[in-house]
Amino acid sequence: MHITIRQLKVFEAVAGQLSYTKAAAELHLTQPAVSMQIKQLEGAVGLPLFEVFGKKVYLTHAGNVFLVHARRLLEQLRLAAEEMDAIKGIDGGSIKVSIASTVNYFAARLVAKFCQIHDMVRFSLEVTNRKTLLERLEQNQPDIVLMGQPPSDLDVVAEPFMTNPLIVIASTSHPLLASKKPVSVKQLSAERIILREPGSGTRDAVERFFIDKEISPVSQTVMTSNEAIKQTVEAGLGVAIVSIHTVELELAVGRLAHLDVQGFPINRKWYVAHRSQKQLSATAQAFRDFVLVEGREYEKSLAQKS
Ligand code: PGA
Repeated sequence: MHITIRQLKVFEAVAGQLSYTKAAAELHLTQPAVSMQIKQLEGAVGLPLFEVFGKKVYLTHAGNVFLVHARRLLEQLRLAAEEMDAIKGIDGGSIKVSIASTVNYFAARLVAKFCQIHDMVRFSLEVTNRKTLLERLEQNQPDIVLMGQPPSDLDVVAEPFMTNPLIVIASTSHPLLASKKPVSVKQLSAERIILREPGSGTRDAVERFFIDKEISPVSQTVMTSNEAIKQTVEAGLGVAIVSIHTVELELAVGRLAHLDVQGFPINRKWYVAHRSQKQLSATAQAFRDFVLVEGREYEKSLAQKS
């Protein structure tokens, strides 16, 4: 088979996006250039790899089989590049990190600090929710993932680096703030609760909390970002259960209030994780160690303040 690495990269992008247009945008190519590469690849393979019904692109059976090999080949090539980088040292390397959107509030500072120390490292950062993060892990795409609960059905090496308490937030004029004793879960469930979208790890934890208490919230509103949730709660639409790290600033300046509710905080943890079969490059290993040290230092500084 006379195939080129460029064809493999284009094929992987189209297979990942199931769209020629999106793949072209991802690769900074024109759509005809993408179509041409796929046509040439199909010619070399001798089988159609995609089929189009209506406006939708699907992988054929041959396409699905070929994708497994294409990913392996590209991964192998990346490892070769990483090993060469490792020989050059951490600063010559690159790293692909995916983080859960909730972790971003803390992780953005981590990444900035790491990049200041290793200013030649090429850093690629993707911020997404838990569901997409698990898909990325399954495809063995990122070197390192920062996430909530690691999956039990995937072979991953995961280590906690920080606690992630989920608390209840409300507007500063919320009537329940006047309560002398902690608010009960029943009272909480009578409020409109602003929830993250299905696929969010925070949402999973909140749902599990109510199931454990055998109480269903009366009214729920769904939002796909922590930022939107904070603004809506501040405007008085309802209350929300969020990671304390997403609202540190708003609590400090008095834009949001922390509501004392029985059973809270829900104590979760953040983990630094990677697939077990992943050979971490020197850069990825350095970032992993950095996250573990920084997370623990941060926890220590919080404990000293309280
Ligand atoms: P998420 O965060 O809610 O942004 O998906 C992941 C998690 O905390 O598990």
